[in-house]
Amino acid sequence: MSRERLILAVESSCDESAVALVRDGGEVLAERIASQSDLHAATGGVIPEVAAREHHRWVPKLIGEVMAEAATLGVANEIDAVAVTTGPGLIGSLLVGAGVASAWAWGRGLPVVPTNHLEGHFRAAWLRSAGASAASAPILPAIGLIVSGGHTLLVRIESDGAMQRLGGTIDDAAGEAFDKIARLLGAPYPGGAALSALAAKAPRGARITPLPIAKTEQPYDFSFSGVKTAAIRQALVASGLTDRSPGRAATLTRQFAEHPLPEKGAIAIAAATEQAIVGALRAGVQRALRANPDCSLIVGGGVAANGPLRAALANVAREERRVLVIPPLKWCTDNAAMIGAA
Ligand code: KG4
Ligand code: ZN
Repeated sequence: MSRERLILAVESSCDESAVALVRDGGEVLAERIASQSDLHAATGGVIPEVAAREHHRWVPKLIGEVMAEAATLGVANEIDAVAVTTGPGLIGSLLVGAGVASAWAWGRGLPVVPTNHLEGHFRAAWLRSAGASAASAPILPAIGLIVSGGHTLLVRIESDGAMQRLGGTIDDAAGEAFDKIARLLGAPYPGGAALSALAAKAPRGARITPLPIAKTEQPYDFSFSGVKTAAIRQALVASGLTDRSPGRAATLTRQFAEHPLPEKGAIAIAAATEQAIVGALRAGVQRALRANPDCSLIVGGGVAANGPLRAALANVAREERRVLVIPPLKWCTDNAAMIGAA
């Protein structure tokens, strides 16, 4: 295949159906995305069966729209291969995407490239709009951090693109912790951005009671489930329910739904949550950068849309004199362009 290869990419691992046309490992010629988050907000989380049905409805439609744009651009017959996410993700959702993409490719005699969703999140750092220069492509080797609803992963990416896992979460993912605590505070799913907006209401200089972050055995591992328990304890105190145990999160979430926290308490817990999660990620990244002085820093995944995290990582990169690449928000959250790049 030539270097300028053109890939039609399909992503359907969780609750976003997405299709993109990507040239040369990063130039996004067309992309469409259909998010199901409003649908899943009603149930407080993704119901896998519902997600799979929605992908079935949307993926073929989005392929049609992207191909119409490909025809307008005069490249509809130049596609070299179809890339599709084959994991990790919800099995039903993955099967729909893989089935539709494979059938489409088979009908045109094109090869199918099974693609890893996490590699996609890292490769989002290489994406650029159509016509934009590739000059700002990340420098390798790099430390890569993926923070999403399902994953928290730290890797070293070698100059040839090979990845070595340094560490990751040993329990909840960073986004999962944001979402669970946001739910407790009454925000609809997915609650990360809502929690961050609530935290931003904390008055400047307000004293935030810190939430403990568990120390992990391995230097590059993270643990976020303790933050959730500590947030529940603070929430119980803030709402006068001190006789309840933090053990049963689902029951407690229901109780908090019936007796919403006073706004001041919710803001304090949101601010403490964000501070704890951002602090832990910042510390892990800094350790990895110090141990890998030859590396730049690449960040991806939905939680990389978090303002304070972006600021903290920019700060670390400045302190450690490294180049930092974080894609624009639309390529941090799940999308198909990153699958095309990978
Ligand atoms: O990468 P992504 O779109 O999907 C997965 O692969 O999981 O990440 C979604 C996650 C959710 O947990 C969501 O709450 C979180 O990213 N998220 C945020 C923000 N925006 C999205 N978390 C904190 N602050 C944000 N601004
Ligand atoms: Zn993702």
